[in-house]
Amino acid sequence: MNRYVIAPSILSADFTRLREEIVACESAGVGWLHIDVMDGHFVPNITMGPFIVEACRRVTQLPLDVHLMIENPERFLEAFARAGASRMNVHVETCPQLHKTLRQIKSLGCEAGAALNPDTPVRDIESVMSEADLILVMSVYPGFSGQEFLPATIPKVAEIRKRLDELSAKAWIQVDGGVNVENIGKAKTAGATAFVAATAVFKHPQGAAEGIKALQDVVARSKR
Ligand code: DX5
Ligand code: ZN
Repeated sequence: MNRYVIAPSILSADFTRLREEIVACESAGVGWLHIDVMDGHFVPNITMGPFIVEACRRVTQLPLDVHLMIENPERFLEAFARAGASRMNVHVETCPQLHKTLRQIKSLGCEAGAALNPDTPVRDIESVMSEADLILVMSVYPGFSGQEFLPATIPKVAEIRKRLDELSAKAWIQVDGGVNVENIGKAKTAGATAFVAATAVFKHPQGAAEGIKALQDVVARSKR
């Protein structure tokens, strides 16, 4: 797998044409698909459950990166694993026993990621940096696609990069929210390796494939 990955979030896909949207992403060379699960409690929106993960699993071989913006995610890990999730990312704000939750995810045969909201400090995930497969840094307040990238994300990514490197930890650093051609290069330079995008991919005027290509081009040209 590439060192840098574009991860389209199907949140902004046209659900009447979900298969075509996913096939376009796959052909454009994305690393994985990002699936935003929201419960109306942890975030002020309700989106998709295991049913959609299962539908995606039937149309693609791509890894499915499931972002659980839900309270008590432990209740649903098994259902998402059974539906075909490849990785599950849980929010540190919803997991009082984060270690235990990450271990539970791994015991289901999935990779385990830890996500943090814009106002959550890096120290809250320090203790899981070596065992997490991915650190998800929210660059908007979670709940909706189409919001603006928060600039404070960049120093936060740099801080996480530094800590991971000090620990020789191999986790992906994924930025999620408001990612576009203007900021994706800065996120890479700060140390991010995976980039979620819904609007920049699926609302691109020339379609998803062009949206992905535009992001890939900036990633390829940016320093690290
Ligand atoms: C926000 C989600 C993101 C978001 C991405 O709560 O986790 O994945 O929808 O959408 P854009 O790229 O439009 O900000
Ligand atoms: Zn997400």
